[in-house]
Amino acid sequence: MMKRNIFQKQEDPEIVKPFENASESRVEETNVSHLGQSSEGGLTDVINLVNINQVYSEHTPPNVVFKDFNLDIKDVKDKGQFITLMGKSGCGKSTLLRYISGLQEPTSGDVYIYGKKRTSKDRIPMVFQQYTSFEWKTVLQNVALPLILKGIAKDEANDRAMEMIKVVGLNGHENKWAKYPILSGGQLQRVAIARNLVVNPQILLMDEPFGALDTITRKQIQLFLRSIFENAKVDPTVIFVTHSESEAVFLSSDIYILDSGPATVRHYFKIELPEVRDESVRYSNEFTEYVNKLGVLLEDLKNERK
Ligand SMILES: Nc1ncnc2c1ncn2[C@@H]1O[C@H](COP(=O)(O)OP(=O)(O)O)[C@@H](O)[C@H]1O
Ligand SMILES: [Mg+2]
Repeated sequence: MMKRNIFQKQEDPEIVKPFENASESRVEETNVSHLGQSSEGGLTDVINLVNINQVYSEHTPPNVVFKDFNLDIKDVKDKGQFITLMGKSGCGKSTLLRYISGLQEPTSGDVYIYGKKRTSKDRIPMVFQQYTSFEWKTVLQNVALPLILKGIAKDEANDRAMEMIKVVGLNGHENKWAKYPILSGGQLQRVAIARNLVVNPQILLMDEPFGALDTITRKQIQLFLRSIFENAKVDPTVIFVTHSESEAVFLSSDIYILDSGPATVRHYFKIELPEVRDESVRYSNEFTEYVNKLGVLLEDLKNERK
């Protein structure tokens, strides 16, 4: 398929230096010029969004959310990627995830998954902010369900589901109803994550999954998500949406900041923090600088008048 620059027909993203003395800053926005180049070593891209247009014509004037929008998510050899999309409300982050998952078709344009045009049969799992477990099923039944739906025999499905329940730290809760307040908000989000990971997806979509959790639970679940990501036997590509700068920096290998009207990628960061991340990462200068820089850029976008 044709390779194209993701910034084709889009404005050049600005390189903004939020620090007065930029040389003091250890963290730099990554130059975006390489983003449209083909992958090294003949890897197929994980995702290509090609000439995406989305117009909602019931508005006057019509709401053009995407206009000739392109984005390539490259594969990285033998490694997972944790890609975060940020940007103000309404800029199109959830819509992008829905295109990738297959929950929505753009007005025009194509979505390629591993080099193949996505069909209505491809479904890519997505974790949402709202708890999306079946309340009338147990934790085990919830996590085993995707395997059962794939035709896997019940015993094997339960064994594999139990393994995943252990991975997400819910061992001992498997026979409880997946229902609040029997399980806490954080535990229910773990059920949702386990249910999505049990099929070993190569791509996992997460749309503000921890937005409803309290700060402490949220940090714990970030740590846990990062740890499964680091230990994964597969090399998953996670596409994650959040409004929290610190959550984004802690979890991500790459951060894209989108702007609206129509959507463009305005900034891109490769997060050069240690691969294996524990709580101590949060106290490093680099971590704080990334968080501050993202905060300034997002604030600037919010204040820009269009
Ligand atoms: N079904 C719909 N009908 C009309 N407009 C929609 C619909 N879905 C989304 N939009 C519009 O598309 C834009 C992007 O929405 P969304 O992807 O949810 O943004 P984000 O997730 O970045 O907050 C918004 O302007 C929203 O109003
Ligand atoms: Mg959204």
